[in-house]
Amino acid sequence: VKSIGVLTSGGDAPGMNAAIRAVTRAAIFNGMRVFGIYRGYKGLISNEIEEFKTNSVSNIIQKGGTILKTARCEEFMTEAGRKTAYENMQRHGIDALVVIGGDGSLTGAGVFANEYNIPIVGLPGTIDNDLNGTDTTIGYDTALNTIMESMDKIRDTATSHERLFFVEVMGRNCGYLALNSAIASGAEAAIIPEISIEKDQLAELINQGFRKSKSSSMVLVTESEVTGGAMNLAERVKKEYPQYDVRVSILGHLQRGGSPTAQDRILASRMGVAAIQALLENQRNVMIGIRENEIDYVPFKRAIKKDREISPELLEVLKISSI
Ligand code: F6P
Repeated sequence: VKSIGVLTSGGDAPGMNAAIRAVTRAAIFNGMRVFGIYRGYKGLISNEIEEFKTNSVSNIIQKGGTILKTARCEEFMTEAGRKTAYENMQRHGIDALVVIGGDGSLTGAGVFANEYNIPIVGLPGTIDNDLNGTDTTIGYDTALNTIMESMDKIRDTATSHERLFFVEVMGRNCGYLALNSAIASGAEAAIIPEISIEKDQLAELINQGFRKSKSSSMVLVTESEVTGGAMNLAERVKKEYPQYDVRVSILGHLQRGGSPTAQDRILASRMGVAAIQALLENQRNVMIGIRENEIDYVPFKRAIKKDREISPELLEVLKISSI
């Protein structure tokens, strides 16, 4: 591999810039040329490609978002779109790609890599922590901290008014953000998609008398069709348990912003360097993962499999610590 392209795709995540920086510098360190591709696969198709030097990525490690911009690209799902993308790679002499993004982006990478026999290495860039084969993803720790700080603020007003709050967080169909931020913020419960809906999590909580000794209650809810979202839960409580003074807070995209934490910057730097190492070792179609603090190569197929299990130990910790 003599020349690589790097892009960010899908929802942005804090630490993506740190990853772009590490990929760029590790590639140049190893004698490769590097091309920054703007707007994810969209820019690969529309040829928004620029050569990067070491100082193209100066002063970005601390910045949220992605300097390369990002997009969700429907055209890349078509054969014609991918053909144009491949032609643009050839035009610039790019012979391998590093794709930083979540499951949708890595799915696209897998299809493209097989179709054109291109070495592609992925980095897990998503706040959702919903990829298999890695303990954590770039952006997850920052988002957790952002949610925790927001929860601390909501707790102040919840306590003053003795209210029950449902706070909705991102994560798509993955409950890790809700569960771990519930533990970190001392919330009373987390309603997450991994726990089947047959089990009525809300009724169970209320029947356990979770408000008995507390002046406020905070319940984290994962945005998801399975949980129904915070609004629906609050409506239900209003009808079925009118004694509670209920409020809802949907944190939304503020969870995706902000300067990355030290942990995310270090993770992104390690993974960025590992991506280039993987290409040097002729790896392809793998995502860089981290398991027990060791870098691992995870085949795309396994990484995007939608069967990430929630940790029963974490569920137990929340249950016990919130009595
Ligand atoms: O995958 C990251 C994520 O923030 C999810 O948690 C959320 O469901 C989705 O992206 C929102 O996407 P958009 O910013 O395109 O609305």
